Amino acid sequence: MRIVLVGPPGAGKGTQAAYLAQNLSIPHISTGDLFRANISKGTDLGKQAKSYMDAGHLVPDEVTIGMAKDRMEQPDAENGFLLDGFPRNVSQAEALDVALKGDDVKLDAVLDLEVPEDEVVKRIAGRRICRNDSAHVFHVAYKQPKAEGVCDVCGGELYQRDDDKEETVRKRLEVYHTQTEPIIDYYREQGLVVTISALGKVEEVTARAMEALGR
Ligand code: AP5
Ligand code: ZN
Repeated sequence: MRIVLVGPPGAGKGTQAAYLAQNLSIPHISTGDLFRANISKGTDLGKQAKSYMDAGHLVPDEVTIGMAKDRMEQPDAENGFLLDGFPRNVSQAEALDVALKGDDVKLDAVLDLEVPEDEVVKRIAGRRICRNDSAHVFHVAYKQPKAEGVCDVCGGELYQRDDDKEETVRKRLEVYHTQTEPIIDYYREQGLVVTISALGKVEEVTARAMEALGR
């Protein structure tokens, strides 16, 4: 399956993507995680992305689209993928359409996670991620690690993301409404959008998502 996951910052895209990708045997491709891995390694791409991310802005399309396409061309993504955080504006969605058309394949669904803004703010405020891999995600109240401050998966140190500060979160939410939400209409015209509530326990949301995807 080829799936795009959309939803506001803190909706639980990364959390759900980990389970859905496993259930569906497809790779989880997160442009946010790719940028953070580049920042940790100190690559030029990471250096370019960091100032935009810290300000809550989108990284320019010239950088993002090439990086996402490179990742989608890896052998493990040949038969499907779960995109998390890409596309994030209409021009990225158009670029993705062109790339898929070139491969003669199509998206199967766009899964839209709906969460009220006050819940999103609580989820982001308590989020802690792993220094070794930003896909290892915890929450101080909702998903506590077994040992405080230590990643259950790899033993890495947990910390708060630089862009999870309140003022940056406000900017990210604004960018979501103005630039990312329009892709939902774009995909609705293609009949691809399935919207689910992302409230409730993580496993309840996963079950809802699997059902919405017809699995
Ligand atoms: P990115 O990393 O994609 O961030 P985001 O979209 O803002 O999403 P988040 O990672 O904040 O949240 P999430 O929905 O994954 O929630 P999570 O599962 O962690 O992007 C970061 C930046 O990179 C962007 O601002 C931009 O600068 C740049 N970027 C990335 N892609 C780009 C692109 N395509 N174009 C341009 N720029 C791009 O969950 C949140 C918390 O809630 C966690 O603590 C979790 O444990 C908890 N939680 C999850 N589910 C539940 C639940 N059901 N109940 C209770 N708690 C829960
Ligand atoms: Zn870890």
